[in-house]
Amino acid sequence: MKSPDVIARMRRSGKLAAQVLQAVGAAVAPGLTTDELDILCHDLIVAADAYPSPLNYSGFPKSLCTSVNEVICHGIPDSRKLLNGDLVNLDVTVYRDGVHGDCNATFLVGQVDTAGQRLVRVTRECLDLAIAAVRPGRPISDIGRAIENHAHAHQLGVVRTFVGHGIGEQFHSDIEVPHYFTPRARMIMEVGMTFTIEPMITEGDHREEFWDDGWTAVTVDRSRSAQFEHTLLITANGAEILTLVD
Ligand code: MF3
Ligand code: CO
Ligand code: CO
Repeated sequence: MKSPDVIARMRRSGKLAAQVLQAVGAAVAPGLTTDELDILCHDLIVAADAYPSPLNYSGFPKSLCTSVNEVICHGIPDSRKLLNGDLVNLDVTVYRDGVHGDCNATFLVGQVDTAGQRLVRVTRECLDLAIAAVRPGRPISDIGRAIENHAHAHQLGVVRTFVGHGIGEQFHSDIEVPHYFTPRARMIMEVGMTFTIEPMITEGDHREEFWDDGWTAVTVDRSRSAQFEHTLLITANGAEILTLVD
């Protein structure tokens, strides 16, 4: 449970993360490289007197995660140009005034086919439904149930290996938030908790494998994956989204 002082600072970090995500997302266009998006992200964060949490986190080499098409998460920015029809997830985390704010969104590059548009829409709906399921006194498993029900109703897969996480003075703290239903997620949500929800939804197989870089997680069948993430504060009525621009 976070103190009022930590919560006040997390509102500021969360807002900054959301602003940076919006600005970098607005730059997404065919022909731009993910390295160029990383530099933009880095410069915006540093200009706001903050630090890009991914940079050197367990050896991660960049300031932004960029996950294209079959990349589920933790893609490393590189010299590949974005192509018309790509899906690209941008995951921004900032550390400012002693606390982290973490959010991500999947952007369409140019014209995306209808299956890709639907994947992105349903994934956003999964996050919205998950946030609506947040309620103090209820187990964390309610969150995964809401996500899984919606994804499966659309014949989409739910990634299991990567979970939402407690966040605050640490980037990843001890709370785990599975995006699928499991009775093991029996921790009870309480007012003042802060954690992320960040469902990764796939067009095909939900299982992942890793590139040799040790970070980039891709679907085993190379089907596309989409993701959205917010940092949340649990309140008496439900959840306050900390990673909003306003
Ligand atoms: N922002 C990611 C998350 O949502 C974590 C990125 S860790 C990194 O938890 F090292 F890849 F940056
Ligand atoms: Co996160
Ligand atoms: Co993130």
